[in-house]
Amino acid sequence: MAECAVLNTGASMPLVGLDTGSNGALPLDQRKAVISAAVEVGYRHFDTAKIYNSEGFLGEALKEAMEAGLVKREDLFVTSKLWCTDAYPDRVLPALRNSLSALQLDYLDLYLIHWPIRLKEGADRRPKPDELMALDLQGTWRALEACVKQGLVRAIGVSNFSSKKIMELLEFAEIPPAVNQVEMHPQWQQRLLRETCKKANVHVCAWSPLGAPLMSWGTPEILNNPIIKDIASKHGKSPAQVVLRWGLDNGVSVIPKSFNKKRMVENLDVFGWHLTDEDHQRISGIEQKKNFDGSFICSQVSGPYKSPEDLWDGEFGL
Ligand code: A2P
Repeated sequence: MAECAVLNTGASMPLVGLDTGSNGALPLDQRKAVISAAVEVGYRHFDTAKIYNSEGFLGEALKEAMEAGLVKREDLFVTSKLWCTDAYPDRVLPALRNSLSALQLDYLDLYLIHWPIRLKEGADRRPKPDELMALDLQGTWRALEACVKQGLVRAIGVSNFSSKKIMELLEFAEIPPAVNQVEMHPQWQQRLLRETCKKANVHVCAWSPLGAPLMSWGTPEILNNPIIKDIASKHGKSPAQVVLRWGLDNGVSVIPKSFNKKRMVENLDVFGWHLTDEDHQRISGIEQKKNFDGSFICSQVSGPYKSPEDLWDGEFGL
């Protein structure tokens, strides 16, 4: 049984999951094979989103694994996300049904609002300024709550929300958000957000917990950081394991991406030990730098956010 966080719904969510967000470049059979390998080595928590184009092959691979008796539906934890062009109250249910159909599932374990913004229909991944609109948070949340009541999703939450936005949501939520999924690693420690979410009983899940070393917007600096490397050699672990353990020690779950079976195993093998207080102190001194800060939905010309600072309500680095 995987080590789990207990959500405010009472459900268990495995603390290490596999983010399927960036393997679109692989041929389809290889993408499916990545998921099958992950099930085989013990992953039970899978993260996807409409915008990742991974729901289809993830669903195929999970269906095959269930049919082969490798895993039962109740042992899996599957998250998907509402893309911003569907963040309209009347589009939530159809969008969720499309995700369920692509995933070949009857229900999701968790459904998240992907970003705190609404995009005009037809907008692509790089929206134009006139396609950016403020999110109708209350209307969209009510529609998500209705999906829970219909049994189509077990828990609902948000992604890329600042503390301020979490507090706004909590003011009217009948079903409080179970999770806030944000980029978090030693170069973006999200201290204020973690504190706020802890008090509000909202679990934080860290995406790109390794800092996305190979992505154009990411950085290899975290895994190459001398402090991380030193702590790793002291514990006889890899830098990635130290960075993941740092997240877990801070009470968050982590969803690293990997296409590689050896690294998948390495990323799951982060239990049964802890970083010391001194390790934590050293990591807390690492300089904070934004990575994927959401600038794709910020515009000086129009839309709700002029800059990433605006999007994050001035909380970056806090
Ligand atoms: P690969 O698929 O070749 O394993 P993040 O989850 O922070 O976005 O980072 C994902 C990236 O980190 C992927 O490019 C992945 O490459 C790489 N990666 C995943 N696990 C490890 C690891 N244990 N050590 C080094 N790099 C890793």
